[in-house]
Amino acid sequence: MCGIFGLTTNQNKPIGKIALEGIKRLEYRGYDSCGIVCQYESQLLVKKDAGKIEEINKRLKLDEFPSDSKVVLAHTRWATHGPPTKINSHPHLDCNNKIAVVHNGILENFIELKEELQSKGHVFKSETDTEIIPHLIEENMKTNGDLKEAVVNAIKKCKGAYGLAICHADYPDTIIAVRRESPLIVGIEEGETTYCASDIPAFLPYTRNCYILEDDEIAILKAGTVEFYDIYNSDFPKEKQIQHIEWSIDAAEKGGYEHFMLKEIYEEPSALRRTMKISSDSLKKFAEILLSAENIYITAAGTSFYAALAGKFIITKFLGKYIEAIECSEFKTQLINSLEKNAIIIAISQSGETIDLIEAVRWAKKYQPSARIISITNIVGSSITRHSDNIIITQAGPEIGVAATKTYVTQVLTLALIALEIAKLRKIEKEEEIQKYYDALRATPEIIENFLEKNIELIKFIVRNLEKNLNFFFLARGISIATAKEGGLKLKEVACRFIEGYSAAHAKHGPISLVREGYPIIFIAPPDETYERLIGNLMEFKSRGGKIISLVVEDDIKITNLSDITIRIPQPGDMYHSIFSPITFIPALQLLSYYAALEHNFDPDKPLNLAKTVTVH
Ligand code: F6R
Repeated sequence: MCGIFGLTTNQNKPIGKIALEGIKRLEYRGYDSCGIVCQYESQLLVKKDAGKIEEINKRLKLDEFPSDSKVVLAHTRWATHGPPTKINSHPHLDCNNKIAVVHNGILENFIELKEELQSKGHVFKSETDTEIIPHLIEENMKTNGDLKEAVVNAIKKCKGAYGLAICHADYPDTIIAVRRESPLIVGIEEGETTYCASDIPAFLPYTRNCYILEDDEIAILKAGTVEFYDIYNSDFPKEKQIQHIEWSIDAAEKGGYEHFMLKEIYEEPSALRRTMKISSDSLKKFAEILLSAENIYITAAGTSFYAALAGKFIITKFLGKYIEAIECSEFKTQLINSLEKNAIIIAISQSGETIDLIEAVRWAKKYQPSARIISITNIVGSSITRHSDNIIITQAGPEIGVAATKTYVTQVLTLALIALEIAKLRKIEKEEEIQKYYDALRATPEIIENFLEKNIELIKFIVRNLEKNLNFFFLARGISIATAKEGGLKLKEVACRFIEGYSAAHAKHGPISLVREGYPIIFIAPPDETYERLIGNLMEFKSRGGKIISLVVEDDIKITNLSDITIRIPQPGDMYHSIFSPITFIPALQLLSYYAALEHNFDPDKPLNLAKTVTVH
C-alpha cells in the first residue's frame, strides 16, 4: 500500500516527468492522493494534493520542476492515518522545510513519539504517522548534523512497518532509503542515476539492475552509486548482490489496451506457457516435501487464497492426504494451540508482501521451529521469499491492474504441476494417465485463447442483460467453488456488485431465501463428478424464478437446456480437463467483471478503496 519513487542523477533528465511516470506505474498500490518533492538550490519544492494522479497532474503540473534539479521523491497514497486530503498527502516535511519523507507502512508508536516531539517544540501539520519522521530526523540533526546518523537514530525509535525515502535540502545529491517489512528496491544506472521504488516496474524503463533492500537495511543513494548499511551496525558499509531482472518493460505498459486488467487477461495464455516451464527440480522438491509430510496447511489472502482452494483440491487428489486451507489473517488464531511439529505450510502470494501472510509464516516458524514454509510467489526477492525454506516463482510477469487475473491462473497452474509431480512419484496412476493430465494442462493456454477470440460479444451481451442487477449468486460444487468465489470477488471489487460465491448445495441452507423472479445466478458447471448433483441444485433455484447463467464446456447439453444463457468454454468434456477448469473457466468471469465495471463507469484498474499490495494488518 502506497508507492514510493525516487531518483538522484548527475544527468540532465526531466526528473519531474520521470517521477510522475514512476508513481503512475505504482498507482496500483494506492490512489487517493499523491505528491512530488524536488530538491533545488538548497530548497525543497513540493507539489501534492488529494485525488488520482492524473487529476492532480492536470491541476498542479506535477512534471514541471526546474530542469537542473537532480533529486526527486514521489509518492502515491492509500490512506491509513488521516483521510485523503492535501495536508495528509506525502511528502511530509520538518519544521524548517529542509527534510522531506515519503513513507509506505504504519508506525505503531507514532502517538508517543509525536507527544515527545511536540514537547520539544515541533509543530505538526497533518494527521499522519509519517510526519513524525522528518521531525525526528530534524531533532537528531541538532546533535551532530550528520544526516545518515540522524536517520539511523530516528529509525531505531520507530516501531512498525516502513519503506522510507528521505531527502534533505542541503544534501544536493543524496536520497536515504530504509525498510522494514514494506518493500523497497534500489535500481541503478552505474555512474549516472540511482532510483528507489516500492516495486521494480517503476524504474523498469531505465534499468533492470537492482538491489532488494532487506529489513533494517539503509541505503545511501548518490547519483549512479549506492552504499548499504545495517541500521544496527551502521559504521561500515555492507556488500549486497546486484540482481538482474528479466521482465520486459512492455509487460508494465498498457500496450494499446484500454486497461491493464484487460491486457492482463489477454496475457494469461503466455503467462501460463512461461509458468509451464518452471524447473521440474523445484516442482519435484515441493512434491517430495508434501509426500513426506504428516500435517499440511495452505494459506494466503484474497485471490491467492482462492487459488489455494483450487490447488488444494488438485493436490489432494494425487497426494491422498488432507490439506487444511486457512486464510492467512486467521492462521495464528486458529492454530495457536495446535500447530504440529514438522508441519508443512504452503504460502501463496502474488506480491510476496501481504503482511498477514508474512506474519502467519513468521509466527509458525517461531511457534514450531521444525515447521517448513514452502512458498509460491510472483516476485523475486519479495518478503515471503526471505521467510521460506523453498520457493517457486510463478512466471506471470508484472501485474499492474489491482484485480489479480493472470497471476491467479499461474498460481493454480503451479499447484497443478506440483500435483502431477506427486502423481509421478507415487506411481498410483499409470504413466499414460499422468500424460493425459499433462496434455490437458498444456492445452489450457489455447483453450483460453479460443475463448477470448470468440466470446467477447456474448460477455458484453450478458453484462447489458444484467445491468440492473445489484446482487448475484455464483454457485458451484467441488473444485469449482474456488472458481465461484474468485469470480465473485472479481465482480465485487471492480464492478461494485454484491456477489455470494457459494457452494450450490449449501446455498439451500439459507441463501436461497433471497431468490425472486429474475435473481441472477451463475452456475459453474464443468462436467466433473459433481455435475449431476449440480443439476438438482440448479433446478431448486430455477423453480424459484432465478435467472440461470451457466458456464459449461462446448458440447454440454443438459445444463445448457436448463439455463437462460450459457457461456461455453471450448474444452473437451473429460475428467482430465475438468480438474483444471479453475484455470480455463475463470477468464470468462474476469471478463464479465471487466465489462461490468465499464458498464457502470468504474475504472477496473483502480477499484474503490483497494490497493494491490496489502502491507497493513
Ligand atoms: C483481488 C486481489 C487481492 C489479493 C490479495 C492477496 O483481485 O488482488 O485479493 O489477491 O490482497 O495479495 P497477494 O497475492 O499479493 O498476497
